[in-house]
Amino acid sequence: MRKLLLQLDSSPQPSVFDRVVALDGGADEVLSYGGVTPESIRDLVHGAIFTRGPKELHNTAIFIGGTDMSVGERLLAAVRKVFFGPLRVSVMLDSNGSNTTAVAAVAKLQQAAGNMQDRRAMITAGTGPVGLRAAGLLAQAGADVAVTSRSPHAGIQAVDAIRQRFGTTVRAVTMSDRSHAAARLEGAELLLNTGLAGVCLVPRDAWVGRAGLRVAADLNAVPPLGVEGIEVHDDGVVRDGVKVFGALAVGKLKMKIHKACITRLFGHNDLVLDAETIAEIARDLLMPRG
Ligand SMILES: NC(=O)c1ccc[n+]([C@@H]2O[C@H](COP(=O)([O-])OP(=O)(O)OC[C@H]3O[C@@H](n4cnc5c(N)ncnc54)[C@H](OP(=O)(O)O)[C@@H]3O)[C@@H](O)[C@H]2O)c1
Repeated sequence: MRKLLLQLDSSPQPSVFDRVVALDGGADEVLSYGGVTPESIRDLVHGAIFTRGPKELHNTAIFIGGTDMSVGERLLAAVRKVFFGPLRVSVMLDSNGSNTTAVAAVAKLQQAAGNMQDRRAMITAGTGPVGLRAAGLLAQAGADVAVTSRSPHAGIQAVDAIRQRFGTTVRAVTMSDRSHAAARLEGAELLLNTGLAGVCLVPRDAWVGRAGLRVAADLNAVPPLGVEGIEVHDDGVVRDGVKVFGALAVGKLKMKIHKACITRLFGHNDLVLDAETIAEIARDLLMPRG
């Protein structure tokens, strides 16, 4: 039976990126819908769950994407509400690539730093979809996490969003521009930059030679890069005493995780892949059990 992925995207145009990865990840066909709202979910999901018998439903799955993670979360809740009894299909949430990218970044930091308990982690510009997910996952792993924002208000909103979604507490730190990066990095052991593409937020002299800093990763692949001195292909090399990861090295792992998740969706009809469950799949990929 053909593996069908129903792509529900909150943006007007369903993402080409997500569609290509879905086909590469093992879907035989992707049925793409854009501009999806919580109100339009019921009929779309009915189309997925009423067309095949319960024993065949693992051949149908749903992928939720779009640029806005808060809408994605509402779409996921709406999808789950439609399911009942055995009439359900596996579903994955990855709005803006934020879950798979955050999971990949956190996996790199964890591999390099080991136990996260009480490690002081600074996420620069951690108020976007990727930063929020990464902050929640790092805090769940026991790290002492702070997210920077240019605006105190956005920082507080980020802290609230992370508490609501992950049940963890992180701190917000205002960093109005890169000239304050050195002061904000005081005491940090881990640095993750999740700022807007094409914006350098951490100049070289803010992190090089900083006592205590062990691992640094930058997710911005568009010049100027987010952390000056980390190259996009850096994958755990040591620069000035710090183990560093660049955006393309993290992106390579993100792609592997994303494809593995798509493959996994078709093995069952009851999976819900969100940040934590995607992180479990990443752990299996990096450290296969058995
Ligand atoms: N490597 C990969 O596989 C991969 C995949 C997906 C995304 N990414 C990258 O990951 C990063 C985070 O993605 P995202 O979608 O979460 O980011 P985003 O929402 O575009 O931006 C993150 C934060 O950057 C800050 N920001 C916005 N404009 C700025 C400016 N002009 N100057 C300084 N800061 C600014 C904002 O924080 P405040 O307003 O609170 O300051 C914003 O919340 C991006 O660089 C993206 O390209 C990488």
